[in-house]
Amino acid sequence: MPDNVEISTLRLPRHIAIVMDGNGRWAKQRHRPRSFGHRAGQKAVRATIEFCLQRGISALTLFAFSSENWQRPQSEVGALMELFLKALDREVDELHGYGVRIRFIGDLSAFAPALRERMQAAMAKTFANAKLALNIAVNYGGRWDIVNAARQIAAAVQRGELAPTQIDERCMAQFFCLADLPPPDLFIRTGGEQRISNFLLWQLAYSELVFSDVLWPDYDADCLQRALDDFAQRERRYGKTGDQVSANGSRPELK
Ligand code: IPE
Ligand code: IPE
Ligand code: MG
Repeated sequence: MPDNVEISTLRLPRHIAIVMDGNGRWAKQRHRPRSFGHRAGQKAVRATIEFCLQRGISALTLFAFSSENWQRPQSEVGALMELFLKALDREVDELHGYGVRIRFIGDLSAFAPALRERMQAAMAKTFANAKLALNIAVNYGGRWDIVNAARQIAAAVQRGELAPTQIDERCMAQFFCLADLPPPDLFIRTGGEQRISNFLLWQLAYSELVFSDVLWPDYDADCLQRALDDFAQRERRYGKTGDQVSANGSRPELK
């Protein structure tokens, strides 16, 4: 196998997490309502899923609605809920056919029963698929994820199943969303802002961060390829020195 092929597969992220930002500004540039931008953003979602399927990336986590986004105008929140509902009805069968496992992460209890039922049905239907783990973060907050983990740990202690001295990073990690997946290797945020906005806080500890000025509806396979090229150039050191890392090969794992 030629060197460059080896490097290109070794340096491919297993898990990509994306803050899909910039829909509102994209619509504003066109003098259209913000919901127009959200609708346009769906094309970029499809392109991203196809890209991951084609490139053999095994997990993709998309931030679709944060726990703070409820504070937006009611009309925008309503339009987003409508879009989610329609997208579920339209896309689930096709994604299932491609071997995609769909998972929603976040506090689903806040959603209307009709939407919640469809989310649950999509998760149940695609549960056994293994080609791509597609995680959609809705009413998700990284701080909520931490609180949720803390609650489950406290309950396990209360039941006498866990001693406080047994709580370490490995133990805690099991209680966060997506505990069964490797943490994101690559975090992408579109739309020009350089912040995490309460996305995966625990899970992003050692992710490589890539920021793009492209607004989400315009994000496409070329943009994703540029992010992968950028990722392939990074040296992930996990606290070690560059010399230690090069002596150990190009993918040192945590501990
Ligand atoms: C991201 O785009 C989508 C959601 C948060 C639902 P925005 O709606 O935040 O777009 P901008 O940042 O206002 O341009
Ligand atoms: C983050 O984007 C949430 C999603 C993309 C779903 P926001 O647009 O809500 O983030 P802020 O408000 O700019 O930090
Ligand atoms: Mg935004």
